[in-house]
Amino acid sequence: MKKIISINQKINRLKKKIIFVDGDKSLSIRFLLLSSLSSGKCIASNLLKSDDVKSTIECIKKLGIKVKLNKNFCEVIGKGLFGYEYKNNLILNAGNSGTAARLLCSVLTNKNSWVKITGDHSLKKRDMKRIILPLKKFGIKFKNKTGKLPLLIQAPKKFKSITYTENLGSAQCKTAIMFAALKAHGKTKLKCIPSRNHTEIIFKNVLKVPIKTKKTKKYDLIDIDGPQEFKPFNYKIPGDISSASFFIVLTLLSRKNFLTIKNVNINPSRTGIIKILNQMGARIKFVNKKKYKGEIISDIFVKSNRNLKAINLDPKLNSSAIDEFLLIFLVASTCRGTSIFRNLSELNKKESKRLNWGIKILKMMDINIKRIKNDGVKIQGKPNLELNKTLVIKNFLKDHRVFMVSVIAALTLGGNWKIHDPISFKTSFPTFLEKLNSLGCKI
Ligand code: S3P
Repeated sequence: MKKIISINQKINRLKKKIIFVDGDKSLSIRFLLLSSLSSGKCIASNLLKSDDVKSTIECIKKLGIKVKLNKNFCEVIGKGLFGYEYKNNLILNAGNSGTAARLLCSVLTNKNSWVKITGDHSLKKRDMKRIILPLKKFGIKFKNKTGKLPLLIQAPKKFKSITYTENLGSAQCKTAIMFAALKAHGKTKLKCIPSRNHTEIIFKNVLKVPIKTKKTKKYDLIDIDGPQEFKPFNYKIPGDISSASFFIVLTLLSRKNFLTIKNVNINPSRTGIIKILNQMGARIKFVNKKKYKGEIISDIFVKSNRNLKAINLDPKLNSSAIDEFLLIFLVASTCRGTSIFRNLSELNKKESKRLNWGIKILKMMDINIKRIKNDGVKIQGKPNLELNKTLVIKNFLKDHRVFMVSVIAALTLGGNWKIHDPISFKTSFPTFLEKLNSLGCKI
């Protein structure tokens, strides 16, 4: 693959009216880890074949788990909650995946061995304190001074149940606690700021483990009784709304197009981008909704619309759109009026500092974007925005979403774009460029 891609032509008429996107990343990683803890053979169809998922597979294989992956299926032979086999000083490399790194810390069980968890340049910059703190309460030992990878970890003889309040609204953090709770003796009581709830749904509807959930005004309450072994299961992974979002915005900001994205998981804790774009006037529709093991799967229909209005976003929607803010900023730059977004500090804790990147890209596009208090931004839209300058995007942390949003900006707003590190999209959406080319782009 080339080191830089150049785009200097906007997308015209989309060549197809229907596309599928790759499998959901959150669900693919959860499937792999949970199936490895089940008591036998689990099969998933449509598993995402991205670098993050491949890193997760390599890690569980090193823990003694058999995984077979072919074009259509992934088979994992679980060995039960305490069945991993590994020697002292094993090294697990989670690559670029925060989800894999953080969740792996909660599944280890061998009390006699230390495991080193590490990752790539970007992952080594990310905060691990958020999981070290609660996991220590279960009795898990950590050797780490910086709160960042690499860290050494050793499981306890017996996991204690805990009571914990999670105030970041991080689904990775919540999930790490929930995975550890499966092994803990007694009731783990978790109080957390709402975030994507796939783990709760899988625990209830797929693993059928004793879990109680309740919503209060500010927190989601989760009680789990452990230790709790569970049976093997099969799972059909739906399309990832975070990947679908690039095609939603491509269609929205291009001229006279429409597109249906088939079979996407529209779990309400993930559909913030749709709610936000519809509040801006987009009229995106869900068609053929169906339930699957507690999740909601649907086709998403979107039409071009460059007549959108600015938004003053309620930060309550932030978590359900957390991976989509670069796209949302891009749309805001084409709206009538001034959009305001607040409480976005978590964006700077992703694969790269995405809040800073959003500001940088929009500034390059000559958009008036200002940082405001409480980690917010104010974006003054230009409804007839057309670019005719050269823009160079070079992100030394190779953030996949920075790459993909730059491609969508280039294809919809014009200009002469030189975008570095194309390989990065393989982290989450390996067929991204292939799909764009099938719609008529020439990349
Ligand atoms: C994820 C949770 C989110 C999201 C990430 C995947 C998950 O991160 O940004 O891409 O699968 O649980 P946080 O837990 O940091 O919010």
